[in-house]
Amino acid sequence: MCGIVGILGNEPVAPQLLDALRRLEYRGYDSAGIATLEEGELARRRAPGKLVNLEKELNGTGLAGTTGIGHTRWATHGAPTKTNAHPHQSEGVAVVHNGIIEHFRELRTELTDEGVTFSTETDTEVIAHLISRELVAGSAPRDAVSVVLKRLEGAFALGIIFSGKQDLMIGARRGSPLAVGYGETEMYLGSDAIALAPFTNRVAFLEEGDYVILTRGGADYFDENDKPATRDIHVTQATAYLADKGNHRHFMAKEIAEQPEVIGHTLSEYVDMATHRVRLPEMPFDFAKLTRLTITACGTASYAGLTGKYWFEKFARLPVEVDIASEFRYREAPLPENGLAIVISQSGETADTLAALKYCKEQGQHTLGIVNVRESSIARECDAILPTFAGPEIGVASTKAFTCQLAVLACMAIAAGRARGTLSEEQERELVGALIKVPRHVSEVLRHEDQLEDIAKSICSARDVLYLGRGVNFPIALEGALKLKEISYIHAEGYAAGELKHGPIALIDENVPVVVISPNDELYDKTVSNMQEVAARGGKIVLFTDETGADANGDSTFQTFRIPAAHCFVNPLIYAIPVQLLAYHAAVFMGTDVDQPRNLAKSVTVE
Ligand code: AGP
Repeated sequence: MCGIVGILGNEPVAPQLLDALRRLEYRGYDSAGIATLEEGELARRRAPGKLVNLEKELNGTGLAGTTGIGHTRWATHGAPTKTNAHPHQSEGVAVVHNGIIEHFRELRTELTDEGVTFSTETDTEVIAHLISRELVAGSAPRDAVSVVLKRLEGAFALGIIFSGKQDLMIGARRGSPLAVGYGETEMYLGSDAIALAPFTNRVAFLEEGDYVILTRGGADYFDENDKPATRDIHVTQATAYLADKGNHRHFMAKEIAEQPEVIGHTLSEYVDMATHRVRLPEMPFDFAKLTRLTITACGTASYAGLTGKYWFEKFARLPVEVDIASEFRYREAPLPENGLAIVISQSGETADTLAALKYCKEQGQHTLGIVNVRESSIARECDAILPTFAGPEIGVASTKAFTCQLAVLACMAIAAGRARGTLSEEQERELVGALIKVPRHVSEVLRHEDQLEDIAKSICSARDVLYLGRGVNFPIALEGALKLKEISYIHAEGYAAGELKHGPIALIDENVPVVVISPNDELYDKTVSNMQEVAARGGKIVLFTDETGADANGDSTFQTFRIPAAHCFVNPLIYAIPVQLLAYHAAVFMGTDVDQPRNLAKSVTVE
C-alpha cells in the first residue's frame, strides 16, 4: 500500500518529507519520490527501492522549496522503477496517489488520441494529464481537480501541487484514507496520523468522496458534490506512533515481546480484574436478541474470527458464520433480521473488509469493528467498535494485534453468554479468571524462546510444512502456517488434524515437518493418533503441548515444546506465541526481510 505526505511549510520541506516517508515505510513499498516548488517551478527527485536511495538522490542535487509532496509506492501498475515512481507530473501539476484507477487504460487512450505522450506505465500519470488539460483550458486548480475527480473510477487518495501556487495543495479521498495535519503556521497532508506524527497531533480525516483545499491559513473541505463540508480536528495519540524497535532486532520481535503487556492492556479495558466480570461498553444491540453472528476479515484477522466462532457457539449458543472478506463481499449472502456483523482488522483500512462491512450495513445488520486503529475507515463505518489496545503494529506480519483480537472476542463471547443466559455468573468468573492469567502464561512462553529458535532451524530446510490443530486450536494451525510462509517464504499449510487422512497424509515423508498444536484437552488423544500416523510414515513431528500432554506422549522422536498448562478456553491466545516465534526465527535464519517481507504490505487498501 502506498504512502502519501504533503507539506505547506515555512522552510525547505524536502528533509521533512523524507522524515515523514520514513514513518510510512511500515506500509511496504518498492520506490519513492518527492516533488517541490522551486521558485514556483516543479522539481522532482525519485528512486527505486528503499528510501536510502532517494536520500542519495537528494544529497546529490537537493530540492529547495517550502511546498512539496512525497510518496512511497507499492507497485500495482508498472514495475517498481524510477520512471514509475511518484510524484507524476504533467504541465503545471504534480500528483501522488495511493490506490487504483480502474479504467485508466480508457483514459490513457483518450489522452493519447489528443496527442499526450506518456512516460510511465502507471495509472497515476493519467490523473496528472487530466488535471493539466483542465488547467491549460483555463480552469482554476480547484475546478480542474473537481472535474477530474468526477471522471475517475476506483479507490484512491491524492496529493496535488501546482506550478506557481506556493500556497496551495489539494488532497482527495475515495476509498483510501487521507488526513490533514494542522501546524502552527504550516499545513500537512498524509495517508494517516503516523505520517504526520513528527509535525502535529492535530489531525482531521477526509470522509469518502471529499477533497480538501489546503493553504497555510487552513483547510477547506468539499464533499463529492462540491458542497462545503466540516471535518472535525482530532488530537490523536500521534506521538505514540513514533515507534522504534527499542532493543529488538526487528519490529516483529518487539511486537511479539509486547504481548503480555498489550493483551493485559486490552483485557483491562473489558474485564473487571477485581470482580472477574466482563464489562463491555454500551453496545447498540442486545446480545440476547441476536439471531446470528457474521464474522468477516482477511488473513490473520480472519483466523481470530474463526477462533471466536468456537467461543460464541460454545458459550453463547449463537450460530456464527465466518468468511474471508474477499469472498464474502461478492457472495450476496442472505443475512437475517437482528444479525450482528463483526469485522476484524488491525489497520482498519483493508479494502475487502471495508467492502464486506458496507454489504452488511446495506443488509441491515448491526455492525461492530474490532480494530487497532481507532481513527480508521472501518472504525468510522461501524455502529460501534471494541478497539484492541495493541499499540502501533509496524511489522507486516500481524502478531500482537492478533492476540489482542482474540482477547476482545473472548470477552465478547462471555458477555454474550451472560446476556443470553447460557453462562452462569460462576462460569463467567472462571473464564475471566483464565483470561486474566494469559499475560503471565505468555511471558512464560517467551522465556523459552531459545528452544523455538532451535526448532526453527530444524525446519528451515523443509520445502513444505504442515500445521495441525483441532477444535478451537485449529485456527492457530492456520495462523501458524500463514506466519511461516509470509515471512520465511517456506510453503506451509494449516489443516484440521482430523482431515489428515482425507488427503494431506499423502504429503508426509521425512522432508515434511508437521507442527502439531495440541494442549492436553478433550481432543488430545485423537490428535495423538494423528501424530502416530505421521510418525509411522517418517514424518518429523514438532509438538506444542503442555506438561501433561508431553508426559502422556512420551515419544522422544518428537521435538516437543512445553507450554504452561492453562484453561482450555484461553489456549489459542497462548499457543499463538510459539507459532509466531517459530516463524520469526525461521525467517531470521532464512535471511528474509522480516518486518517487510517481499510482495507484502502492512495494510491492503487495494482489492
Ligand atoms: C498477517 O500477518 C498478514 N499481514 C495479513 O494476513 C493481514 O492479517 C491481513 O492483510 C488483514 O489485515 P488487517 O487486519 O489490517 O485488516
